[in-house]
Amino acid sequence: MMSYSKGFFLILILFMFLCKSIFSDMILVSKEEVSEIPMNFLNFAKKGEIFEWMVGIRRKIHENPELGYEEFETSKLIREELDKMGIEYKYPVAVTGVVGFIGSGKPPLVALRADMDALSLQEMVEWEHKSKNPGKMHACGHDTHVAMLLGAAKILQEHRNLLKGTVVLVFQPAEEGGGGAKKMVEAGALENVEAIFGLHSSTFSPLGEVTSRSGPMLAGSGFFEAVISGKGGHAAIPQHSIDPILAASNVIVSLQHLISREADPLDSQVLTVAKFQGGGAFNVIPDSVTIGGTFRAFSKESLQQLKQRIEEVIVAQATVQRCNATVTFETKDRLFFPPTVNDKDLHKLFERVAGDMLGTDKVKEMQLLMGSEDFSFYQEKIPGYLFFVGMKDETLEHPVSAHSPYFRINEAALPFGAALHASLVVRYFSDNQAGSPMHDGYHHDEL
Ligand SMILES: *[C@@H]1O[C@H](CO)[C@@H](O)[C@H](O)[C@H]1NC(C)=O
Repeated sequence: MMSYSKGFFLILILFMFLCKSIFSDMILVSKEEVSEIPMNFLNFAKKGEIFEWMVGIRRKIHENPELGYEEFETSKLIREELDKMGIEYKYPVAVTGVVGFIGSGKPPLVALRADMDALSLQEMVEWEHKSKNPGKMHACGHDTHVAMLLGAAKILQEHRNLLKGTVVLVFQPAEEGGGGAKKMVEAGALENVEAIFGLHSSTFSPLGEVTSRSGPMLAGSGFFEAVISGKGGHAAIPQHSIDPILAASNVIVSLQHLISREADPLDSQVLTVAKFQGGGAFNVIPDSVTIGGTFRAFSKESLQQLKQRIEEVIVAQATVQRCNATVTFETKDRLFFPPTVNDKDLHKLFERVAGDMLGTDKVKEMQLLMGSEDFSFYQEKIPGYLFFVGMKDETLEHPVSAHSPYFRINEAALPFGAALHASLVVRYFSDNQAGSPMHDGYHHDEL
């Protein structure tokens, strides 16, 4: 039997518990308050010391670019910053990857992603923080992605009382072809995670602008390589040879028919032969020619159809010219990427958050792009949303595209990315309290 004092104590605890849960529900109760968070976060991230800190991180990573699965120093820098903020993390995940956790430790779990790798490219921009690693450069803005996600981590950690869920920080290796996202998924980075957001820098849209779209946004991609073999010999006596150069040329022309004659004109696809290697002399017909290229489409079905036809056409057309051909597709460092398909409910959430922060006129609809992103591997598992943050360098007359050795960004955009990341999860949590999940079962809606 319970004594009087024990009963009283229990009531007291119950009362305190009720107060606490009422209080925590009140934190984000008013609509006005929710819509003010993005602006407040942006102002927070623009503060001198936080801005300088993000710029410092970005420059440090920019000076020391590391290729896919070799991001050891970048990963170490991330972990040191997480340690300083008192944020727990898992490491290593997929070789160099780091997965951090902020918030209640309870569901819902929502992930934010940054990629860490650089490109095999010699930086041609002369500035104080130019790449110190010859032949390597952050020419796709992944240095800014890391700085912005750490910025978001700082905002969220400072405001962790607002978090009615757990934020999962995903720092992934090898976006540039190595399929780091796929490895992160296989290593369990998305375990119990309901949704994921990712951002990419854009040197074509101005500061304070964001672009994205609902549904398919970036193409899926595949690569192929074919060896066409004939019989080498004297260039002046072709009747004794089987010429693989002419055969490869016919193969390339025939491949062009796949898009122009077989694909639905309303289903955008690309097939480019970007590699042609064979022969080394003016008077010798070589034994073989190697060709290779990439193909892109917005649905898995179209990609599969292209893959099958590329192989058939290469083999059959080579045979017409008495050559043999072997075709290879996916390899360890040439993975197929699925199309990037943005979840429509997350798009609505993004439009509200970005609109509250930047004004609805600064939230632009993105054109479909045939480029690919390995963010799509996350979207295959859970609803995901990728958006672009305007980082145009206004000092340049013509903006420079990603993967250019002259790539430059406007560092003033860092607070925007950080604050958007942070605001998106806070809004997700306030919209999706336990028991009212945004998605009852996930259905990937593809074109
Ligand atoms: C093609 O392959 C067949 C069967 O292996 C072989 O007999 C033939 O010599 C090859 N032709 C060329 C041009 O390599």
